[in-house]
Amino acid sequence: MKFSLFLSVLLTPFLFAASVKSTVCKQCHPAIYSEYYESSHRKASVYNDPVHSAWWKMMPKKRQGYTCAKCHSPSDPQALEHGILTDNRIQREEPISCVYCHTIDHIQQNDDSNTNITTGKTREFFTADASKKGSGVAHFQTHTSWFGLNRSVENSPFHKINYNNENFYNGNVCMGCHGHTDNKHGVDILMLDAFIDKKDKETCISCHMPQVPGTKVTLKHTPTHAYHGFAGIHNLTEALGKYIDFNVSRTADGFDITIVNHANHALFGQAYREGVLKVSINRNGKEITLQPAVFTRIFGKEGKESFPWEATETLKDSLIYGKKKLHYPVKLQKGDTLTLVLGVKRVSETGIKALHLQKHSELSRFKPLKYEIYRF
Ligand code: HEC
Ligand code: HEC
Ligand code: HEC
Ligand code: HEC
Ligand code: HEC
Repeated sequence: MKFSLFLSVLLTPFLFAASVKSTVCKQCHPAIYSEYYESSHRKASVYNDPVHSAWWKMMPKKRQGYTCAKCHSPSDPQALEHGILTDNRIQREEPISCVYCHTIDHIQQNDDSNTNITTGKTREFFTADASKKGSGVAHFQTHTSWFGLNRSVENSPFHKINYNNENFYNGNVCMGCHGHTDNKHGVDILMLDAFIDKKDKETCISCHMPQVPGTKVTLKHTPTHAYHGFAGIHNLTEALGKYIDFNVSRTADGFDITIVNHANHALFGQAYREGVLKVSINRNGKEITLQPAVFTRIFGKEGKESFPWEATETLKDSLIYGKKKLHYPVKLQKGDTLTLVLGVKRVSETGIKALHLQKHSELSRFKPLKYEIYRF
């Protein structure tokens, strides 16, 4: 008992880093803060996300309480350490705070889900900048020249910056939360199926946090900064379309569409997500709509459809991994225009019904990722 108490005291600072509010960062990083405020990371808690809240209400509760805190609100110590969920400021304003992400030191691999190990430091942050990689920890510096007439500053007066964490370069910093989340039967309900390879040109960060106009800090001007709204279903959805390609080829009885996914992960793997490819032909001014293709996973128990959290198997998996080829037995004619639109629904119609989210029908709205027209 004594030993485990000692251990938990010893480990506590490494599991979370509380205390500095994200609104403090806002003073010098206002653009990044306002993007963060509209991100799904700021909205990840039960109080800000109706989907998460619906799951949590319906799921059978465990003795450990609110176990989702590890990824959905790690900045709330009460929730993270004791599984106690209360409607408080952290849950609403910064369930995954600026300090939390910027102090993730490394990722521990576990069976049911990975774990972030943070430094516990509240004034020293990791980031990535290839030109400064390998340098020491950057402190605030002032330089004076011309007998004190010219003063220039370097680095932050508020915090130190550590450019040496490889996980901030290769995207592994995301994998503590985005790796996998297995239910009690070992079924991964998150399923990104990501594979980080040194040879990849793009990373989780370059695709989902693209450089957008605006300075990263007020004390110095930079033309761009890393987008903290995170490109995804909530924001910049169409910006991700450029990482998906369509190939159309004619066959004896019709045509094939191949969808090529350049991400290092499967698309639409989260439970109740749904990708949809809409296909239509315009022939002599008339619109012919073909059967849309649906990319999703359906979970089951004893052969019947079930809630994701109680699933023992996957009944159907039509996700897009590397490539997906679809066949359409419809002959194309000269003069035809073929239109393809690939998009995503945050919650499928099945999910809306299962989770009783009918009041939030906006959640199943089709959000386009990519659009292309072919003329024959
Ligand atoms: C008093 C102003 C100030 C406050 C408050 C502040 N920062 Fe900074 N921060 C800076 C400055 C200035 C830089 C730019 C350093 C440079 O590039 O010379 C910076 C740089 C950074 C960087 C690295 C950017 C890079 O690529 O060089 C990160 C990460 C960061 N801040 C995070 C935070 C977080 C998180 C908070 C809140 C806990 C915060 N900052 C609060 C002034 C501030
Ligand atoms: C290991 C980390 C981790 C744990 C633990 C975890 N989640 Fe998640 N969860 C995530 C991540 C990452 C996403 C985003 C997945 C995506 O967008 O593809 C997510 C997404 C979700 C979504 C979908 C939200 C949406 O916008 O549609 C729901 C619902 C959800 N989680 C419920 C839960 C519940 C309930 C628990 C606790 C019983 C839980 N999660 C525990 C990491 C986790
Ligand atoms: C502390 C855990 C955590 C970390 C670290 C984390 N995420 Fe997330 N992320 C989540 C959770 C939880 C959600 C889903 C929130 C919800 O919808 O309820 C999410 C959602 C997302 C989404 C979906 C956005 C949308 O609009 O639907 C993207 C994209 C994403 N994260 C990318 C990243 C990337 C890239 C990184 C690494 C730089 C990262 N995340 C780091 C927990 C995390
Ligand atoms: C080459 C670009 C690319 C790379 C690299 C990439 N992604 Fe994605 N990601 C995409 C595309 C395209 C989608 C599909 C858009 C969607 O589902 O909203 C996507 C979707 C996602 C989603 C689901 C979005 C949502 O709104 O639910 C999450 C979460 C995510 N990626 C996280 C990651 C993480 C973590 C990594 C690193 C392991 C990563 N991505 C690497 C392009 C990329
Ligand atoms: C989900 C994790 C996550 C959260 C939350 C987060 N950041 Fe970041 N941040 C990153 C990553 C990863 C990078 C490195 C991006 C890159 O390679 O350019 C980064 C980069 C930065 C930079 C440098 C920007 C640039 O263009 O080089 C600053 C400054 C910063 N973050 C401040 C903040 C502030 C302030 C907040 C809260 C309002 C915040 N971050 C929240 C993950 C996060």
